[in-house]
Amino acid sequence: MAYQTIEVKQLTPTIGAEVFGADLSGPLGNQQFQEIHDALMENQVIFFRDQKLTIDQHKDFGRRFGKLHVHPNAPIDLPEHPEILVIKADEKSKHVAGEEWHSDVSCDIEPPMGSILYMHEVPANGGGDTLFASMYAAYDALSAPMQRFLETLTALHDSSKAHYYRVKATDRSDIQFPNAEHPVVRTHPVTGRKALYVNRGFTLKIPQLKRHESNALLEMLYRHVETPEFQCRFKWRPNSIAFWDNRCTQHHAMFDYHPHRRYGHRVTVCGDKPFLRA
Ligand code: SIN
Repeated sequence: MAYQTIEVKQLTPTIGAEVFGADLSGPLGNQQFQEIHDALMENQVIFFRDQKLTIDQHKDFGRRFGKLHVHPNAPIDLPEHPEILVIKADEKSKHVAGEEWHSDVSCDIEPPMGSILYMHEVPANGGGDTLFASMYAAYDALSAPMQRFLETLTALHDSSKAHYYRVKATDRSDIQFPNAEHPVVRTHPVTGRKALYVNRGFTLKIPQLKRHESNALLEMLYRHVETPEFQCRFKWRPNSIAFWDNRCTQHHAMFDYHPHRRYGHRVTVCGDKPFLRA
């Protein structure tokens, strides 16, 4: 694709690109907005370096792509900004958000289209990379009979799988633990490509199958999703931004840096109900 206002350098031929020449703190002109959107559609996750954004500028950038999502049950660390999900780990952390491969909040009836993570602080001695996997590549690599079979199925995604530890420990009065049934293969609403849409973080079962069949099939798919050839890996620096498309990717936050600190803010852009176009 030819870009006029940005430069786009792919990380791998399958997924991921770094974008140069855009300052995300100011209002984006229509052409640059369109090119950033095109770069995201083409590469599934895009990365920006050396950005200086206030919280409001981060939210404004997200709003160019759609309404901002408020997480159904994560703590609201910044009460003035419920749309900001704080991603943090320090010496007290035993787990971090996103350690399992997942697509954000796939338990929502209308799961988010994208997420924009702005990293403020990275671990002192390295580590804390994020891995992204292409669910187009995961679908395309399956055999035709398996693709056809999966296209007949739905899967139940349940927040209680990913967020069970929040059921008791919460300060939110509006807390919710949504669940939703989605097609196992979804059509991307913009590109029209098919993507595998089950993930270890949220998916509970395939209701059309017997329990042991569902478990075995899902385990096979989760391991398939983790195939290194479907992935790129992003090494954060302070003030880097990653913008990923949840409709065609999964990601995995490495927690290999304890007891060091890592801190960032995520805004999440609302999406629509997954569908499969035959
Ligand atoms: C997430 O949004 O799932 C966390 C990603 C990360 O911390 O790298």
